Parts: sequence; structure tokens; C-alpha cells
Amino acid sequence: MCGIIGYCGHRPAVPVILEGLRRLEYRGYDSAGVAFLQHGELHVVRAQGKLANLEKRLEGQNVFQATSGIGHTRWATHGLPIEKNAHPHTDGAKRLAVIHNGIIENYQEIKNELMAEGCAFASDTDTEVLAHLLARAIDKGLPMDQAMSETLGRVEGAYALAVVSLDTPGVIHAARKSSPLVLGVGVGENFLASDIPAFLPYTRDVVFLEDGEMVRIDAASWRVMDVATLAPIEKEIKHITWDVSAAQKGGFKHFMLKEIFEQPKVIADCLAGRVDVAAGRAVLPELAGLPTPERLFIVACGTSFHAGLWGMYLLEQWAGVPTRVEVASEFRYREPVLQPGDVVLAISQSGETADTLAGMRLARQRGAKVIGLCNVVGSSVARESDVVISTQAGPEISVASTKAMCSQLTVLTLLALCLGEATGKISRQDRIDCLTSLEKLPSVLEAELPRMRERAMDLAKTYSEVSSFLYLGRGPYYPLALEGALKLKEISYIHAEGYAAGEMKHGPIALIDPRFPTFALAPMDELFPKVKSNLEEVQARGGKIIALTHPGADMRVDHIWETPKAWGPLSTFLMLPALQMFAYEMADYLGKDVDQPRNLAKSVTVE
Ligand code: AGP
Repeated sequence: MCGIIGYCGHRPAVPVILEGLRRLEYRGYDSAGVAFLQHGELHVVRAQGKLANLEKRLEGQNVFQATSGIGHTRWATHGLPIEKNAHPHTDGAKRLAVIHNGIIENYQEIKNELMAEGCAFASDTDTEVLAHLLARAIDKGLPMDQAMSETLGRVEGAYALAVVSLDTPGVIHAARKSSPLVLGVGVGENFLASDIPAFLPYTRDVVFLEDGEMVRIDAASWRVMDVATLAPIEKEIKHITWDVSAAQKGGFKHFMLKEIFEQPKVIADCLAGRVDVAAGRAVLPELAGLPTPERLFIVACGTSFHAGLWGMYLLEQWAGVPTRVEVASEFRYREPVLQPGDVVLAISQSGETADTLAGMRLARQRGAKVIGLCNVVGSSVARESDVVISTQAGPEISVASTKAMCSQLTVLTLLALCLGEATGKISRQDRIDCLTSLEKLPSVLEAELPRMRERAMDLAKTYSEVSSFLYLGRGPYYPLALEGALKLKEISYIHAEGYAAGEMKHGPIALIDPRFPTFALAPMDELFPKVKSNLEEVQARGGKIIALTHPGADMRVDHIWETPKAWGPLSTFLMLPALQMFAYEMADYLGKDVDQPRNLAKSVTVE
């Protein structure tokens, strides 16, 4: 998830673009760049790191004549967050510059073809293929809109891109498919951006572009057409009333809620270019050359630890790989016995958590291979791992991790399928069924989220006076019980305990009474009867129960909360957001600062 902006108008373009990028930094902030035409020349200025570095690089440069240009703030997916991979990217002759938000899934195949034709690549990004494809089309004599159409007809994946070119001064061409792009209509000026905040101070008149649409803007006009046919498309201008911070949250009250609602797209982005359903194959090229682990040690903290624990169930069941899940702060000070062939999987959203880092460094010292499963490309965990798999969740602003866990579970599912195919433990048909269900999840969850929120709001109100909650689950739903409890604790400050349901009778059952409710994960799977009897033990002691289950579940509890069923443990992807939503609605109902909970930081980099 990157931020892109384009401007054509009467003002000096570079200051407008920089201001817009500042408002889009929540979408990505590991490198940035601008491109603009001035005195008949194409200027491209980029910098690694925060936007301030780009501003420093532009200082003292005469950039104020340009009245059109494009800008980009990056969240790395392909290629490290360094200057050469920052956008904009140009063609070899530096006649055009491209900025892009999204993932070109077939970029390697196109890159090989272009390199065979003598094309030299300056970066490791997927995006650069767009610049070279466009230049090749223009060399054939096509005007920019036809060149865009031909180029985009060639690529697979997601994109919102914008192009400036010496051949079309004062004009920007842009297009979108699966990545957001909005047009801001001004007087004597027009804007393009990934999101409305970028140009809100200048205009509140917006045109929302749909997938498969291309737009051409200059200072005085804008025109929308179909990418494939170039047929003109009539568009309506909408007037926006939000303020900037609301707009950054996409109209949601908090980043946490916005990130919960982003999970359908996060799953889709994580699967992009990584699944071949017909063959029942999950594709993780990063694993090429890494032998199947003799033993796998998953090392992580907090929510990432819970994701790892969930992954263990799949890795053992589907791949037969002996898997241990370690709390990093314990693993690093323990004398873990690591043997040749052991692999450590370090899971971290931020990639900067000190305990996880120390755990993986210890493992490397002891000769184990380390796979880093991270959301921040170029982070310490990513840099220091032998193999890195990126979770593609985009920047997670809220301290309470939600979409990052969803992306971790998605990649862990793919990892278990990959290793399961390698060990032959999981059948091809099961892999096909699993991938088929996985690919359906984004649309199922998208449809379910609004209903889920309503239910969560009701239940939060009903239980807002309790001071403790017990979360119970079995199998892969036990880690979810731990996560549900963690979410409630960290944002609503209500004491909560996650427990393996079968373990409850060995102690915590003593706590059960009418004031200590239970949130149970009771999916309709082979363990349902077991969970049901655990809940009867709770009811016998007057405990109130919320049961998250599937339609048709035969159980009598205080509150049944049904979520759609998916294949095997994939129902998790429909129950996790319910847990997150309940904690969110409880914290919001109690008036807590949801995005910045007390005593917590987004990544714990201290010892
Ligand atoms: C989760 O909501 C918390 N923010 C926290 O437990 C977090 O998961 C933990 O600090 C690990 O962070 P990481 O994934 O960035 O390593």
C-alpha cells in the first residue's frame, strides 16, 4: 500500500505534491519521490526513508516553475526501501516517469522479455516494467492513451498508476485496477491521488474511479475512458464533507476499525501471485532452495506469537513438520537445543521487536536457518533473515494489531500448503479445496463485516460493565482465544484471559460466576461436542456465555454469534475479525483512545 498523487494546474506543482504526500504517509513511508517537467526537461528526485529526506533533497533546487507533476510515498513490497527502488521509475531514455501503487504479479516474466530485447533495469521493483512497456509502445508510434491501454492489457495484478511524459507536457495519464485512485476536480487545476486527504485542502469535488478506468487530466480538463477500449465514460462529481484526519481514516472513527475492514483486501493482496488453485499449489518462491525443515521453531511476541501458534496446527497436520512455538522473550534467554536442519520462523509485523530479533540472532549463531515473516520490508528482522516472506498488509497504524495477524495467518496457510505438498502429507484434493475456499474469503468477509460490527456493538453494550472475561477455544481456535483476550485487554483495559477450553476444568473454572462471562470459540468442527460440554460446565456455575459459532449449531447459551463457515480451519478468518470487532466496540463504548492505548507502543524495540 503506497500513496500516489498527481497535479496539473496553475500553482507550483512540487509544493502541492509534497503536501499531498505528507497526508498520504500513513499509506507508506519507507521512501518517496517526485517527477515533474520544467523547461522541457523531465526531473525525477527520490529519497530513501521518510518524506523529510525528499524535502531536504529538493531544498535549494529551483522546482517552482513546474505546474504539473506526480509524487509517490512507498511501502515496499518488491525490492528493498532504498533510493533506486523508490518511485517514480523512468524508461531508459528518461522521456517518461511512472508511479504505481499495487503489485504486478507477472512482472518477472515481462522483465525477462524486455531484458532479452536489451532493456536495462535500474531497480528491483515490479513497477519499472510499466515504464519500459510504455516506452516500447510509444516507440511504435502509439499516443499515450493507447500506449497505456496496450501496456495495462499486458500486466496481471493490481495497480493505480500515473504517468508524466515529455511527449505530453502538462498532462497526466492514470489508471486503476484493484488499487484506489480518485480524481479531485478544481478550478483551473485537477488532482489525482490514492486517497482524498491528499488534495482535500484544495477541492472537495471528487470523482471516484472504478477498476478498468483510465483518466487523462490537464489544468483545464479531465476525461475518463475504459482502459481496454478507450471508450469515454461519463462520471459523476461527488462533494466530500470530511475533514483531513477523518479522510485518512477513510471515514472510519479509528485506524483500528479501518484496518479491521481492510482485511478482505489484505487476504487478496497476500494471495496475489501466490496461488495456483487448479494445481492445488501455493507458491512461495522465497522458499526456493530451502530444504524442508527437520523441525520448525516459530519465535514471536504478542499477536504475532498467537499467529504462530495457529500456524503450528496447520504445519503439523498438513505437512507433518514438528513445530514448536516460542515466546521470543523466553526463547532468547533459554538454552534452546537447535540441531542441523532446524529452521526458525521469526514472525513480526514491525520487524523491529527486540525479543524476536534477539531470538533469531541466537538461532543463527547456533546454525539454524531463519525465515523472517514480516510486514515491514527492509526491517531488521527482514534484513537479518536468510529468507524473507512479506505479509503485504500495508502499514498498520493502530497499535492494536489486526490486519497484520490476518495477513500472517494467510501466509502461514500458504506455507503449510507448500511444505505439505513437499512432504506429500496433504492430498492434492485437500490443497485444491483449501485454496478454493481461501480465494473466496475476501468476498465472504467483505459481506459479513457490517453485520459483524452491529452484533459486536450490541454485545459490547450488554457486557460493558464486566471487569473480566474468559476466552476459550480448542485446536486452532485456542490461539484465537488468546488473541481475543489480548485485544480486549490492550484497548479496553478489561482483564481477560485466554485459555484452552479443555484446560479450564484444571483451575480457572473456579473463577466462573455470573459476573465473569465467557467468550467461547465454538466452530462446528470435530471438537464442537467437546467445547459444548466445556460450556455446560460454565453454565452450571452461572457463567454467561457468548459463543462464536456457525449457523445451525445446537447449543443453548446467552448469546450465539454466527459467522459463515469456511473449509477446515479457514473459518478462523471469519472469527478473528469478530473478536477484534468486539474488543474495538467495547473500547469505543467505554470511550478509550483505541488507536493509542495507554502503556503500549506499535513495536517494542526495547529489551
Ligand atoms: C498486538 O496488538 C500488540 N501491538 C503487540 O502484542 C504486538 O503484536 C507485539 O509487540 C509484536 O509485535 P511485532 O509483530 O511487530 O513483532
